[in-house]
Amino acid sequence: MPHLRRFPTSGALYDGAAAMIVALLQAAIAERGRAALALAGGSTPRGVYERLAAPPLAGELDWSRIFVYFGDERCVPPNHPSSNFRMANEALLSRVPLVPDHVFRIDAERPPADAAARYAALLDAAPPLDVVLLGMGDDGHTASLFPGTPGLDSPDAGPRAMATTSPLAPTNRVSLTLRAINESRDVLFLVSGAGKAARLAEVLREQASGCPTLPAARVHARSVTWLVDSAANPAR
Ligand code: 6PG
Repeated sequence: MPHLRRFPTSGALYDGAAAMIVALLQAAIAERGRAALALAGGSTPRGVYERLAAPPLAGELDWSRIFVYFGDERCVPPNHPSSNFRMANEALLSRVPLVPDHVFRIDAERPPADAAARYAALLDAAPPLDVVLLGMGDDGHTASLFPGTPGLDSPDAGPRAMATTSPLAPTNRVSLTLRAINESRDVLFLVSGAGKAARLAEVLREQASGCPTLPAARVHARSVTWLVDSAANPAR
């Protein structure tokens, strides 16, 4: 069953998420000498990344042992305002001493199917992801797995990355598949704002029922934690 952690404000959510990410990465490094982190896109994670890049948390991680992947990418150049890489690079990657070769950007300038095949091959050759950060759209999508995306009904088969299309521009995307996400150790959903409340409640109901239909409800992994603010999940 997923865990739910409710925070009074978005700022408290960012603080709590950043602290949890550091603890999980430290544990992975202690156990296996390295940690693989997949970053979420969109706007919510920026506050978390900024906290990871600043004292005190930035100094608590051996960044040389951290391998960074992306949960999804919009098919735009890496300096485009809509690029998830650009957001993560501004907020985190350019501010901490990662090994550049340990940051695996999705080549979103390539044709989507080509970029997806390359990323899938990269993931096939790598250990399972330790920590996967995800957001949730108000339609119940996660990463760039939107309702109606092919393959949602066979989450444990197929490639670990795929080309998808979004109803929202930029329409062409590359996304981790449920297979890659569900093979990971710890998934953290970051959900903020009243606009997500109704859909979040629906997704949590679907997960509790064991009959998921929405993409976000289909995520299981070894451990799934929803980190939400009160606006997205008002106290019952
Ligand atoms: C993307 C994200 C997407 C995002 C949700 C929530 O590329 O847009 O991967 O899944 O996490 O749409 O976005 P916000 O955090 O902006 O609400």
